[in-house]
Amino acid sequence: MDEHGGDPARLPSPPLAPEQQLALRPARPEDLDAFFEQQLDPEAQHMAAFPRPVDDREAFRTQWEPRLNSDQNIVRTIWFEGEIAGYMLSYYNAEDERTEVAYWLGKNYWGRGIAARALRAFIEAEFPAQTLYARAAKDNVRSLRVLEKCGFTTAGEQTGFAHARGRETAEYVLRREPDHSTPAGL
Ligand SMILES: CC(C)(COP(=O)(O)OP(=O)(O)OC[C@H]1O[C@@H](n2cnc3c(N)ncnc32)[C@H](O)[C@@H]1OP(=O)(O)O)[C@@H](O)C(=O)NCCC(=O)NCCS
Repeated sequence: MDEHGGDPARLPSPPLAPEQQLALRPARPEDLDAFFEQQLDPEAQHMAAFPRPVDDREAFRTQWEPRLNSDQNIVRTIWFEGEIAGYMLSYYNAEDERTEVAYWLGKNYWGRGIAARALRAFIEAEFPAQTLYARAAKDNVRSLRVLEKCGFTTAGEQTGFAHARGRETAEYVLRREPDHSTPAGL
């Protein structure tokens, strides 16, 4: 087991070949249907451990549309080979006075190194000199690995209600300093 309980015998994500195009662009209202569909997957919902349900299309649109034009959010659509692979999101957590990042990929795109590459690009473009935070359920080993590869380290723990699990769930809070040094080989 590694620091976050991952399986060291797992097959690593193969690196993306240079010709496999990945791009981030400002999210548009017409992208929201794809984000919604991607959030319907039960395994992904369990992993993400979000506090509220994400399976009502209208509620999803009502929650997301204001984010596209808000000073408090940056939303980027992840394009992979001409398709919407998922999103990168930042939001201001007023209670804890910090900027946090979150992301979601459609299941077809998992395990190919896309999330780590997209998060790195998002941070370089939007937050090159800012301390950032993220949260992940303690058993969301994929997301924890993505964050580790992008220079986040564990800064604390908290517990929150996860709708998809129907119970309180323990999470790590992770922080990334702008001048972090990435562990060798990541
Ligand atoms: C979390 C998520 C974005 C990860 O996407 P992904 O495409 O699998 O991410 P990557 O391929 O960039 O990296 C995944 C890493 O986890 C590793 N991993 C996969 N299974 C693992 C396991 N059981 N134990 C430990 N590590 C594991 C992979 O090997 C890879 O690391 P590597 O590049 O060092 O080999 C995606 O699964 C997702 O959208 N999930 C649902 C929503 C969610 O959980 N969002 C995050 C909460 S905000």
